[in-house]
Amino acid sequence: MTGIPALTLNDGHALPQVGYGTWPMSDAEAGPAVAEALRAGYRLIDTAAAYGNEAGVGRGIRASGVPREDVVITTKLRGPDHGYDSALRAFDASAKRLGVDHVDLYLIHWPLPMKDLYVDSWRAFVRLKEEGRVRSIGVSNFQPAHIERLERETGVLPAANQVELHPDFSQAALRAWHAQKGIAIESWSPLGRGGLLHDPVLERLAAKHGRTVAQVVLRWHVQLGLVTIPKSQNPARIRQNLALFDFALDADDLAAIAALDGEHRQGGHPDTWIE
Ligand code: A2P
Repeated sequence: MTGIPALTLNDGHALPQVGYGTWPMSDAEAGPAVAEALRAGYRLIDTAAAYGNEAGVGRGIRASGVPREDVVITTKLRGPDHGYDSALRAFDASAKRLGVDHVDLYLIHWPLPMKDLYVDSWRAFVRLKEEGRVRSIGVSNFQPAHIERLERETGVLPAANQVELHPDFSQAALRAWHAQKGIAIESWSPLGRGGLLHDPVLERLAAKHGRTVAQVVLRWHVQLGLVTIPKSQNPARIRQNLALFDFALDADDLAAIAALDGEHRQGGHPDTWIE
């Protein structure tokens, strides 16, 4: 029991609200970092075929001493593997690199609408779930129109959508849409790739609560009902980013953070990003 609150997904499975992100880590770096994170209490580990570190993540999980069944492993389908047969083959390759027989959450990494294969990939995901090789299926960087198409053509909604989200890009409309659909949001680059750490408003809130700016921002994600996956390779910061459950932001704090949204995306746009 690590004290991390969990969200119940629309398929009945649970996802801890704080997980451990592994981008950008090399395969060699990922092993010790993931083992450290699991020992610190993280139980959700987020990787992707495109990160090139799945084997290291698998080594880290085995080295940690934490039982496999206690770890929620997320990985993602990369762009060149979109399509029904290629997605099935790509899943096998990811599971093999991770050294597992099933994955807990499998995501389509980007919609790549210019390839127009995400619906075919999704049909493969539905099959993998039916076969019990994947516990929950979801997407990443999908816009509402992409998800509506999945629903229309397959009848199956994703359990989660992992998108860029931080105080400078807080995605209020997207959050409301997902809440109404019952799809969980996972925030990637929750700290804005570290770019928010010297913001004066966040520094004031950090001083008010006797916390770091990173903790205030991660607590904000948790209070918005999101799943957040901070990445750190520093053992002290790995622990710091999980010490979020003995303080709370009040309504004034949340309003002050809401006012920071500059609609500044750090990563690619879902309609145009090509991997
Ligand atoms: P490091 O690995 O040296 O800790 P994001 O998750 O938004 O992409 O941000 C990740 C960046 O933020 C990394 O560069 C990471 O560096 C840094 N970072 C992660 N946690 C903290 C923290 N608690 N305090 C300061 N920087 C942090």
